[in-house]
Amino acid sequence: MPNLLGLDDCSPELITNLLNRAEELETSPQPLLAGKTVCSLFVEDSTRTRLSFEHAVHKLGGNVMTFSTQGSSMAKGETLYDTVCTIAAMGIDAIVMRHRENGMPFNVAEWVDLPVLNGGDGSRAHPTQGLLDLLTIRQHFGRIHGVTVTIVGDLAHSRVMRSLVAGLPKMGATIRLVAPLSLMPNDVEHMGVEVYTDLDQALIGTDVVYLLRIQHERMVERFEHLSAYVDAYGLNSERLHRLPEHVAIMHPGPINRDVEIESAVVDDPRCLILQQVRNGVAVRMAALDWAINS
Ligand code: NCD
Repeated sequence: MPNLLGLDDCSPELITNLLNRAEELETSPQPLLAGKTVCSLFVEDSTRTRLSFEHAVHKLGGNVMTFSTQGSSMAKGETLYDTVCTIAAMGIDAIVMRHRENGMPFNVAEWVDLPVLNGGDGSRAHPTQGLLDLLTIRQHFGRIHGVTVTIVGDLAHSRVMRSLVAGLPKMGATIRLVAPLSLMPNDVEHMGVEVYTDLDQALIGTDVVYLLRIQHERMVERFEHLSAYVDAYGLNSERLHRLPEHVAIMHPGPINRDVEIESAVVDDPRCLILQQVRNGVAVRMAALDWAINS
C-alpha cells in the first residue's frame, strides 16, 4: 500500500517521477480518480495544503469528503482511532491528513488498509511541501543538483525544513540552515547541513533564500524578541538588493508580512511564493495518482 508519509522514505527515482508526473498532469489533467473518494482529515488549521489537495482530487475527477474537527464527533470525545475507522468503513480510497502530533499519520496508516498522504504532522514532516518546493526549484534553475538553498527562520518548529532536509540533498542540492540559537533544532548537528547564526554570512553564494514563519502556536514559551529577530533575520529590501539577480525567494506560507519577509519583497519578481502554491496542486495530483492507482 503506497503511503506518502515523509520524503526520507522516497528514493530519488520516485521523487523525479512524481515531479515529472506533476508537470504532465498540470498541462493535461486526466480523470485518473474517477469514482474514487478521498477523505481530507485536517485536525489542524490549513489553507493551501488542504485546499490544494482537494482541488487536485477534483481536477482528477475524484470526490472529496472533508472532515473538520469542529462539528464532528471528535468534539463529543471520539478518539482519532475511532473516527478514522468510522470514515474508512464508509468505503473511501485514501486519507489525506494533518495533525499537530508528530507521527500521527504513521499511526493512521497502520490502523486502516488505505493509502495515507501526510499533509503535515507536528514539527516532523510535510512531504508534499518538499515536493512542490523541489519542483519550483527545478523549474526556476532548470536543475536541482548544485543549487544552494538557505533556509532561515523558526527551524525548531518547522516540519517544512525537515522535509527539505530529507528531500533536497538526495537530489543533489546543498542546504544551509540559519536561525538564532533559540530557534535552532536540538539535532541540527546530525542533519548533515551547513549551520549559521548570521544571515548575511549565510546569504553569500546562495541561490535560494527560503523563509519560514515564527510558528508561535507550536511554541511552549512565548517568543519575546520579535523586533531584534526582524532586524537580524528578516528579508528586507536592503538585503534583497544585495543579492545577485539569479537568487530566488521562497516561502511555504502563510507569510507574516514585515516579520520574516518585508512586504515589498513579497511583490518582487524574484519571489516565487505563488509559483510554489501553483505547483502544490500539480504535485498533489501526482502524489494522489501514485498512492491510489499504483
Ligand atoms: C506550513 C505548515 O503548515 O507546516 N505551511 C504550509 O503547509 N504551506 C508552514 C507554516 O505553518 O508556517
